[in-house]
Amino acid sequence: MSILRINGCRELDGVIRIQGAKNSVLPIMAASILAEGTSVIHNCPRLADVDVSMRILEHLGCEVHRNEESVYINSAGLIRSDIPDALMREMRSSVVFLGAILARTGETRLSLPGGCELGPRPIDLHIAALRQLGAEINEVGGKITCKAKHLKGCRINLATPSVGATENAMLTACRCKGTTIITNPAREPEIEDLQNYLRKLGINISGAGTSLITVEGSDAKKDVEHTIISDRIVAATYLSAVASAGGLIRLEEANPRHLMTVIDVLREIGCNIEINDMDKGVITASRKGKLRAARPIITSPYPGFPTDAQPPIMAAVLKAEGTTVFVENIFENRYRHVEELKRLGADIKTEGKTAIVCGVNHLSGAELRSTDLRGGAALVVAALGAEGTSEISGLHHIDRGYDCLESALQCLGADVKLVT
Ligand code: UD1
Repeated sequence: MSILRINGCRELDGVIRIQGAKNSVLPIMAASILAEGTSVIHNCPRLADVDVSMRILEHLGCEVHRNEESVYINSAGLIRSDIPDALMREMRSSVVFLGAILARTGETRLSLPGGCELGPRPIDLHIAALRQLGAEINEVGGKITCKAKHLKGCRINLATPSVGATENAMLTACRCKGTTIITNPAREPEIEDLQNYLRKLGINISGAGTSLITVEGSDAKKDVEHTIISDRIVAATYLSAVASAGGLIRLEEANPRHLMTVIDVLREIGCNIEINDMDKGVITASRKGKLRAARPIITSPYPGFPTDAQPPIMAAVLKAEGTTVFVENIFENRYRHVEELKRLGADIKTEGKTAIVCGVNHLSGAELRSTDLRGGAALVVAALGAEGTSEISGLHHIDRGYDCLESALQCLGADVKLVT
């Protein structure tokens, strides 16, 4: 078992390049099934979830390999349409293979993605959308069997703008006869990235990023190259880290346009954040004096404040003067990091969707256990601002979303060591 040992309260100073987005690369790897040829995907972060996607694609009969930051997928030889339970359980986002495999082969068999880390994560909207497109779906004992003789485009209205359901509907719609219109889709930047990839395949799709997506079904397929967008949640984590520890850092290859709600909060609490080059994604962030509390931080679908940035930003305001209120509207159980943060001396009360953080004067290092991916990132952010040594376990959660977190923090001058 490895732990991350952090000696906190050292100002950060350095430059970091932001990795490609996990939430973009995973659906695009699933979508590569539709290329029926070679997809070269650049800016692929080295993450446990990307490895699982590679294993799923290999299982399906695709050729897959990685060269540095590029992943090569040749899906021409796909021969299977099922995903074994063990692979499905490793990663929740495996569910996006549902729409991709169905579109390619007209059938699929897989099981419900495992775990329950943020509370219930149903897939009823995914299933309803695929049924509307003509799939017959049976769900028995956690197994999902999907068959479709004729996939036919239609109008799908999502009751909630679910990211995964939007992606599954988009992918299946690519091979439907006729036009599919998705209303109330998720508008996250990662949805736009998926649309850009699908367009490269020759699919006529538009509207991603707005409240109506239109997909013209076709047989379009091609060899393509695509570069994954920058990870806005990873960028938000490093910005939270400098807010917590103090100092001055420079992010490169971030996308400030995708980060504005987070940047607004960090500016409000007293960080100095400058966007030096919007197109190259250069952001300078510093924190010198004491932080102050923020107005209520209320998570909502994009372009609102991202639920994934709630834990690291909470970690950043633990020592801010005053009280910061969080309202978590997306997931029911997304305050699991709170009990761990309290071990450092944080003053946080939770009730239902609300968490109230009263700023304390100092935090002291403690033994902490990551509860989930972004909760784990929050512990790292908090430990960087705590006096003394913290030891963080449960790093497998963090590895799902952060490419070489330890060395990145070392580049920023943090006293961080991976101990095996
Ligand atoms: C994606 C992101 C995750 C992020 C989340 C919300 C990926 C790989 N993961 O997860 O990092 O935290 O968006 O921004 O992109 N819901 C239903 N029924 C469904 C589907 C969802 O009720 O069939 C509900 C969920 O319980 C949740 C809300 O919709 O309350 C949003 O979930 P969704 O957008 O689907 O999240 P994911 O796609 O799982």
